[in-house]
Amino acid sequence: MSILTMSDVVLKNKRALLRVDLNVPLRNGEITSDLRIRAVIPTIKKALKAGAKVMLLSHLGRPEEGVFDEQFSLAPIAVGLSKLLKQDVPLIQDWIDGFSMKNHPLVLLENVRFNVGEKNNNLELAKKMVALCDVVIMDAFATAHRTEASTCGIVQCAPIACAGPLLVAELSALKNVLAKPKHPVVAIVGGSKVSTKLALLDTLSQKVDTLIIGGGIANTFIAAKGYMVGRSLHEPDLIDEAERLSLNAEQRGAEIPLPTDVVVADKLSEDTESSIRLLSQIDDDEKIYDLGPDTIKKYVKIIKAAKTIIWNGPVGAFEIEQFSAGTKAIANAIAASGGFSVAGGGDTLAAIEKYDIVDKIDYISTGGGAFLSFLEGKTLPVIKALEQHTNTVSIVSVTEKTKTPSKTKKKKTS
Ligand code: 3PG
Repeated sequence: MSILTMSDVVLKNKRALLRVDLNVPLRNGEITSDLRIRAVIPTIKKALKAGAKVMLLSHLGRPEEGVFDEQFSLAPIAVGLSKLLKQDVPLIQDWIDGFSMKNHPLVLLENVRFNVGEKNNNLELAKKMVALCDVVIMDAFATAHRTEASTCGIVQCAPIACAGPLLVAELSALKNVLAKPKHPVVAIVGGSKVSTKLALLDTLSQKVDTLIIGGGIANTFIAAKGYMVGRSLHEPDLIDEAERLSLNAEQRGAEIPLPTDVVVADKLSEDTESSIRLLSQIDDDEKIYDLGPDTIKKYVKIIKAAKTIIWNGPVGAFEIEQFSAGTKAIANAIAASGGFSVAGGGDTLAAIEKYDIVDKIDYISTGGGAFLSFLEGKTLPVIKALEQHTNTVSIVSVTEKTKTPSKTKKKKTS
């Protein structure tokens, strides 16, 4: 089903409530990765150029509703946005009951999660947000798996709601890799637990030609093959699942390769002594923290030959230098591959930035949970809400409605 997009809607002299995801990592009030902010800059520019007055709506972290807490304020984001856009982006503190935009064509509304009812998709709250605007533009793909007032609620309640260009681009890139990918398709899934990524591993093991696993996830698969994993992070109760996934992949001629060698140590620290071990040599008191050199060589070869690559999660404890070789080599192999590559997830983005390959990945998703949900084949509630909304408004009524001044009484945003 198709959805109404920003370019279908006349924005001139309209007040646009633009839902973006500015939930970026911060350390001591400083932005440590502005990937998500940069991703939405073209949308903001486009809406302003089209003549809209733009109110940016976002969450940051998971604050308690109804309580202002400075550590979750969007103040640092307003500063970052102003720098990137080279224009002042004022932060509006109390906005839910209306405010004046004065001479500002662009404002940022304080963290939407401070409002009571946001998390439970309270429609009275959503209606208040919608009353501030003529058009809702949903461009926060990274929140598309959340049913909240500022995600689904505003789409449900808005007279006109459309998808922004970033959301459209995300959907198209992800559909591209899942629907008709060029083979061989290789997915790399790292991370600590099989349990948190079981649905993803299940879906991918049925679609890809090779599923490379890393981190704690790989340890559970290693244990499933009967090897000792010492004190490594793994999930004994998911060993049967790991066996089932490997068998399923095998039956359809695909592969979930296991590492042949790994890097072990007794603890996760910069100064601990590490060793390379074959799988059969891991001692009782050792922990696996990275792939070994032979495994890396084998995986790099597989990745370089791939025509489609999906990457989610580091394959080792890459934040520590001596356990970073696996993730670094995987990142560089993806960057060097001629295949179409898509990557997403918080830790993955950190690795992409660390190894400076942002420009070498074909599509970097801004989504963490939303990226995973999409790859798992789940219906994203925000996309469903946009589809349902599009069903109820025709393109003609959209352009008509947006061309004539709205007769509904608006709050004092001007
Ligand atoms: C994310 O970081 O994945 C999105 O911003 C959603 O955040 P949430 O998991 O707190 O809803």
